[in-house]
Amino acid sequence: MRPRIADYPAMRFRRLRRSAALRALAQENVLSVGDLIWPIFVRDGEGVEEPIHSMPGVKRLSIDLAVKAARMAADLGIPAICIFPYTDPALKTEACEEAWNPDNLANRAIRAIKAAVPEIAVMTDVALDPYNANGHDGIVRDGVILNDETVEALVRMALRQAEAGADILGPSDMMDGRIGAIRSALETAGHKDVAIMSYSAKYASAFYGPFRDAVGASGALKGDKKTYQMNPANSDEALRLVERDLSEGADMVMVKPGMPYLDICRRVKDQFGAPTYAYQVSGEYAMIKGAALNGWIDGEKAMMESLLAFKRAGCDGILTYFAPEAARLLRG
Ligand code: PBG
Repeated sequence: MRPRIADYPAMRFRRLRRSAALRALAQENVLSVGDLIWPIFVRDGEGVEEPIHSMPGVKRLSIDLAVKAARMAADLGIPAICIFPYTDPALKTEACEEAWNPDNLANRAIRAIKAAVPEIAVMTDVALDPYNANGHDGIVRDGVILNDETVEALVRMALRQAEAGADILGPSDMMDGRIGAIRSALETAGHKDVAIMSYSAKYASAFYGPFRDAVGASGALKGDKKTYQMNPANSDEALRLVERDLSEGADMVMVKPGMPYLDICRRVKDQFGAPTYAYQVSGEYAMIKGAALNGWIDGEKAMMESLLAFKRAGCDGILTYFAPEAARLLRG
């Protein structure tokens, strides 16, 4: 016999959906401005803002305008900004030396933002692709992406970013052993308080397309990134990568892309309870914006729903190009 208590009409779930007040009381997860990390693209020049065709509303900014954007973000309460450089193709080489130039575009942007807006946390990308003549995240020889040589280059790059004042380093290259190598180099050099957010579970994804346009890497990229980024079919492997990166000294871990990988976010959070982030990547942004611009979906509602879904999946924060737009809505 079925227990009487569960019988209709005792259980009417609609009772708590009846009004905004009751819905608020029953709400399990909340998105707040403090959850947002804003990725921005910087370029050379002064007073220059250059639209990115495949990311409507996103622009490459010269450093002076990036500083203004950081000021605006901090005023909105956005806790962190993440810098991606659009590097002059003339500076791209096979050895990627520009990556560890203390005065490269990214490092100049870090210094300028930290000087003008000290309260915002500045995150970086640690990977060679913006500086690589062949568009890969690692050093390539005879068509092979070299792991250990790349890790050495990444360590040099990470140290220059820490010296420039970065608060959080984001190794996004997916080489093995880079978290441990960067962590011990930071300790040795006295940068004990610089955090590492590892792109631990980064998939070889078609959703990065617009980003590669934004940093000017699409033209250069030969082949794909499947020998270092994860197979989208895998889930257990993500847990092993997160475990490895935490044990090597990562403070925060990331799953990327975001929306198609919410199951991974949930598994990572449940298993490790570590600070867990998702990157709602360029292609996800482009899908929502593109559909909204065509009048096919309500862009604001879809944006907020997608961001809340990351919280529901267990994320502590989200890297998203929507950060300022979402922050404005959250602040009312
Ligand atoms: C590369 C890097 C990528 C992104 C962040 N860092 C692209 C890639 O791996 O090809 C993608 C971000 C996005 O699509 O928004 N180091």
